[in-house]
Amino acid sequence: MARAADVERPGAEHWVPADADVDALRSAVHDCRGCELWQPATQAVFSDGPSTARLLLVGEQPGDQEDRQGEPFVGPAGRVLDEALEAAGIAHDDVYVTNAVKHFRFEERGKRRLHKKPGAVHVEACRPWLLAELGVVRPRVVVCLGGTAARGVLGHDVKVTEVRGTLLTGDEAGPAADAVVVTTHPSAVLRLRGKDGYREAFDALVADLRTAAAAA
Ligand code: URA
Ligand code: SF4
Repeated sequence: MARAADVERPGAEHWVPADADVDALRSAVHDCRGCELWQPATQAVFSDGPSTARLLLVGEQPGDQEDRQGEPFVGPAGRVLDEALEAAGIAHDDVYVTNAVKHFRFEERGKRRLHKKPGAVHVEACRPWLLAELGVVRPRVVVCLGGTAARGVLGHDVKVTEVRGTLLTGDEAGPAADAVVVTTHPSAVLRLRGKDGYREAFDALVADLRTAAAAA
């Protein structure tokens, strides 16, 4: 267990078991106190999908539904992601899906819990879980769904609009993965639903998923 001094400095290191498989990581994450987000959340949300996957998708953080159900991408953004995977010809059961941050960050507004973007401090604190997953799954290609995911995977900020859809390899892929594709978050596509630009945004997400799958 962590000493008090460790708790004052955010970081999940002390809770991530060494040499653990995905199941062991999944059960250990519930004890994590690596940052303050565990406290108001219902539960930690880990991953879904096979640890043998060649394609690994990283989202931002669990949303309201995910926090309640304990599974990633089971809410509205997850439906957009499922549609995009299907349109790209990728079998949902073949991909490993996780998030950069494992607890839901939100603001209370009356009875509603409004999504609040995780800060750089939360992404950094939670990164040991993500790195452990990348180390166990060792996918051929990692897809970062949005800027928060890219920060978690690459360890630094990128401009999603500049790098999206490009297969990043070598130094550009960072130390944690061999090949990375950054794309937009399905929530950003969802926000356009019923508006101009929705089709274009959805098709661009599908095209980026295809680029990733072709390299996997
Ligand atoms: N958005 C994410 O980034 N992850 C989820 O699991 C759900 C919504
Ligand atoms: Fe630990 Fe990540 Fe949850 Fe923070 S968000 S308590 S680092 S699992």
